[in-house]
Amino acid sequence: MITDPKDERSESQWKRRSASNSLAECEPKDGCVSEASGHANAARQGAGTTARGQSLELVPASCYSMEALTAAYNQTRIDYIVPMPMNVARLEAYIQHYDCDLGRSVVARLGGEVLGLAMLGVRSRRTWITRLGVLPVSRRNGSGEAMMRYLIDRSRDLGAEDSILEVIKNNVPAQQLFTKLGFRVTRELLILRRPPGLPVVDAPAYRVTAGDQQRALELLRRRRSVPSWLDETQSLRNCGGLLSLEVSLDDGSHGWLVYQSTVFQLGRLVLQTESGNPARVAQALAHALHTRHPIQDTKTENIPADDPHLPGLLAMRYLESFRRMEMRLDLTNGS
Ligand SMILES: CC(C)(COP(=O)(O)OP(=O)(O)OC[C@H]1O[C@@H](n2cnc3c(N)ncnc32)[C@H](O)[C@@H]1OP(=O)(O)O)[C@@H](O)C(=O)NCCC(=O)NCCS
Repeated sequence: MITDPKDERSESQWKRRSASNSLAECEPKDGCVSEASGHANAARQGAGTTARGQSLELVPASCYSMEALTAAYNQTRIDYIVPMPMNVARLEAYIQHYDCDLGRSVVARLGGEVLGLAMLGVRSRRTWITRLGVLPVSRRNGSGEAMMRYLIDRSRDLGAEDSILEVIKNNVPAQQLFTKLGFRVTRELLILRRPPGLPVVDAPAYRVTAGDQQRALELLRRRRSVPSWLDETQSLRNCGGLLSLEVSLDDGSHGWLVYQSTVFQLGRLVLQTESGNPARVAQALAHALHTRHPIQDTKTENIPADDPHLPGLLAMRYLESFRRMEMRLDLTNGS
């Protein structure tokens, strides 16, 4: 079980880490006030109290070190459908890229032992729930629901109009939980992969212009598609390393691609067709991309299932890795 390693480390170490991560510094006396869970399941077991007389506590995640949060995340996901282990650096980057607010994120604990965590991304009048997990041995005791209710309450405190999340398709426990709390499916999102290598399929003839991050951000200002939280322009700007390609086809079609290029991987693809056939434009863009970057693996997340560029990407040998359901909770109705 995970306890709070903040206790095991000097205060100066903690302050240094908090400052370097721009995380809210947590003074244990003032900042780590817990809420007892008022959740119905907990009530069923006796007002959130176990046989040992311990009650479920909900504590801001900012009270914990990044090491503890990383360990908690990995242990709650040990049996996850799609393995996604994290290290401290990756979790820190995730928090920064997606504007997660650890002061409004939550750790659930019982008798000092961490049972689970969930994080809240915060952007203008909207929140995003992510990284929810409960240790396998502690599930079905109300902790997941209690943490979700905590994050929804924080979202309401902020005056958010809605809260969104994504759940892997066929993750029945999580989807049931979200449905119970009023979240409704908005759309299906695909995670696509392509192995490294030059294009193996021809595309329609095209002319291509490459651009830097500044051009990529200019193109994103023209974006018409509705992005998921992961590929909102704010996320892409936070992630950096953006490049662009613009193609013109002989039939007059033209469009652009914004993407992120890192040493081993291409990703975060945003495609837009300005005129013509989106599938043909996507084929040309993918051809140009992989001709330019033949050695990188490609992984791009959250392409809507009804995106008109999808057939073009699939024709260029992109493979569907898995699907997520995007779900939304309307917070404007006061219920
Ligand atoms: C999803 C998860 C967080 C739920 O946590 P939990 O503490 O077990 O859930 P709770 O005990 O609070 O259950 C609350 C509700 O969730 C739903 N639920 C939870 N587990 C379920 C299961 N195995 N089957 C069906 N519904 C389930 C039910 O609606 C339940 O309400 P009920 O008790 O009135 O039936 C947990 O299963 C988990 O950590 N899974 C692995 C990580 C994961 O999938 N995270 C979500 C990523 S989007």
